[in-house]
Amino acid sequence: MPKAYIDGREIELRPGERLNGIQAAARAGIEIPHYCWHPGLSVVGSCRMCLVEVGTRDAESGRIIMLPKLMPACNTPIKDGTVLVTNSEKVARARAMVEEDLLLRHPIDCSICDKAGECRLQDYHFQYGQGERRAEIRPFTSRKRDLGDVTLFIDRCVMCGRCVRFTREVSGSSELLVIRRGAQEEIDVLSDLPLHNPLSGNVVDLCPVGALADKDFLYKQRVWYLRRSPGVCTLCATGCSIWVEQNQDRVYRIKPRENPAVNQWWICNAGRYGYPLVHDPRRLRGVTRRGGGSAVPLDGNVFSREIPQQLRAAGKLALVLSPFLTVEEAYLACLWIRGLDAAAEITVGPIPREGDDQRFPGGFVISAEKCPNRLGVEEIAAHFRPNGRSYAEWLEAAGRGEFGGIWVAGGYVRPWIDEAAAARMRHARLLVVQDLFPSPVSDGADYVLAAAAFAETEGSYVNARHRLQTARRAVRPPLDNRPAGPLFWELLGRSGLYDPRRVLSEVAAEITYFSAASGEIPDVGIDLRVDRLAEVAPRPGTV
Ligand code: FES
Repeated sequence: MPKAYIDGREIELRPGERLNGIQAAARAGIEIPHYCWHPGLSVVGSCRMCLVEVGTRDAESGRIIMLPKLMPACNTPIKDGTVLVTNSEKVARARAMVEEDLLLRHPIDCSICDKAGECRLQDYHFQYGQGERRAEIRPFTSRKRDLGDVTLFIDRCVMCGRCVRFTREVSGSSELLVIRRGAQEEIDVLSDLPLHNPLSGNVVDLCPVGALADKDFLYKQRVWYLRRSPGVCTLCATGCSIWVEQNQDRVYRIKPRENPAVNQWWICNAGRYGYPLVHDPRRLRGVTRRGGGSAVPLDGNVFSREIPQQLRAAGKLALVLSPFLTVEEAYLACLWIRGLDAAAEITVGPIPREGDDQRFPGGFVISAEKCPNRLGVEEIAAHFRPNGRSYAEWLEAAGRGEFGGIWVAGGYVRPWIDEAAAARMRHARLLVVQDLFPSPVSDGADYVLAAAAFAETEGSYVNARHRLQTARRAVRPPLDNRPAGPLFWELLGRSGLYDPRRVLSEVAAEITYFSAASGEIPDVGIDLRVDRLAEVAPRPGTV
């Protein structure tokens, strides 16, 4: 097996593997500071922060020959016998000089900069910079430029060029460019071509300093107040891995979570800026009983006691599962309804779609299917009701009054049902609707329950490529809301707190499609068709 040596530590190179110095060092547990390199972009080697000593070790004699000059690790291919030295005096001096040079032109405005607390320039200065500033400190200017979707704080830019390469290589929109040269260089756009594309928010994540600012997040929170939870974007069937960042149960920002099998390092603007629905004042709240034109707020425990009797008395039952439910929620809902009525009809509600899939040069796909879990929910429904009717057929049957009781387990984020379809459902003697927002069907329901939004839910989703991923709850739902998972858990008479992990194990044991989900689910999720974990092992290196 070919070997390389980083600061005296030996690493093995897998056959056909192409690593650069930064990635190889990361494998040895050594961080090489860098600004311009990013694993998802081409290598330009312009910032020089990653300079290291490079040499070759002769396999037979063990003799090491070092190059006289420092080399950028990002642009150094690692081969059998490559030697890197990252901890020498020479390297430390080079890093300190790069930091000093960048800080000559960088305003020290960390106290008002959105990036403070997660700024590479700040972190590297403390780690690799020098304690003393030799240049005269000039008052900084605060030149800003509106680039379109984001704001550029011109003086903070370190000209790493990541944002420019992103628009050329990943979004393919090429709005960003570098104007002027040398010390006068700046990022800009053409006056008639502002930065405006469905992936534009990623340039803010790529910016290692506070130069590119997110207009949505600007001055809203200091980043050290935010807590992050791993989540899954529920706004399309790509199912991007995300971080949900919140403070005191309020979501402030969504960031991409690296997942080579799904979204790599990126997310689209719809997912990034879609979080306000969590705190939308129009959301349904609590549990209400409606009848005779009035809506009466109901204690959740009273609801849990009286609803099973009412459904049993209603006659033939039906359950509508929305493609926004988690696998666990859909499974518990089916289990419960079939416990009340073994012949209950189960169908999957409408699948929202918009146009065609959008594909980008970097490989990113925004799915036309605007829901996170169609495949998962369809598999659950098919397990409990093989050869069940389609939603359209089921709706016809509802209109003919075939069902005595209907439970709609919704969670749709946009309007999904019209008055005509709602009127068909109202033929049932008892209509229970659990949803995020009011709709024609909730307006005419006997019981209305508020559903949980994506950040308030814990559970699994299966994306359009059969990858199951698990999301953690980031914020608590409003106090009087009854999320579907805990509600069905309680209705089934299960003891203790709702445990989605246990439910998923049950699903994996019972339904062949989910059998790969029987063990621990890794951060990158699992492919339910074939176990391809080896293919998507996290890449070495950091962003
Ligand atoms: Fe290597 Fe910039 S020169 S990261």
